[in-house]
Amino acid sequence: MTASPDLAPLGRAALRYVRSGDIVGLGTGRAASAFIEVLAAEGPPVTGVPTSVASAELAERLGIPLKTLDECPELAVDIDGADEVDPAGNAIKGYGGALVREKIVAAAARQLVILIGEEKLVPQLGTRGKLPVEVIPFGREATARHLRRLGLEPELRMAGSLPLVTDNGNLIYDCGTGPIDEPAKLETDILAIPGVLGTGLFLGMTSAVLCQRGGEVEIREFM
Ligand code: A5P
Repeated sequence: MTASPDLAPLGRAALRYVRSGDIVGLGTGRAASAFIEVLAAEGPPVTGVPTSVASAELAERLGIPLKTLDECPELAVDIDGADEVDPAGNAIKGYGGALVREKIVAAAARQLVILIGEEKLVPQLGTRGKLPVEVIPFGREATARHLRRLGLEPELRMAGSLPLVTDNGNLIYDCGTGPIDEPAKLETDILAIPGVLGTGLFLGMTSAVLCQRGGEVEIREFM
């Protein structure tokens, strides 16, 4: 994954959340990659904990020292992208397929900083239409049936003609939701299904949202 140069202002704005010597979660996707590139070029010396194989490869190539989350289970900050963000900073993530590792790393960080373009701002989660859910391969059709019973429309994510396999060796159902009235209840209901590892709902986790409009970056802080 390489960053779009258009997102460099977003990556640069995120540097204010990073101090020399910090352990920093490195998110996945275009916005997170923009941050990784700026961090390597202009940022203070830090150690990164990557949220995916792709982010690890990018950071390694750029010379950012890395550790695993097991070596560093508490992070100062995690900087990542998102696919939808509501006015309270709740997010849907995982269009890039790294949702489970992203959520584990985010939960280990004292701050979660989300980087988005303005097209990701939504009045209500589910507006853009799909919620990624990572499931183990065993019994995937039975898991899909349970998802359908919740009123979701699961579609197995493909990579060409084969199902996409995550860094964890699992599969992803992109679930049609429509606008989600009760995201916390939906999260609880989905997580109760055997075979589900995690959802792309990131509720009450965000410390700040940095939103790029053209070349400008607007910052909203939540805690
Ligand atoms: C990866 O699994 C995702 O959660 C990404 O963080 C999200 O899809 C945003 O990616 P972009 O910055 O590429 O839009």
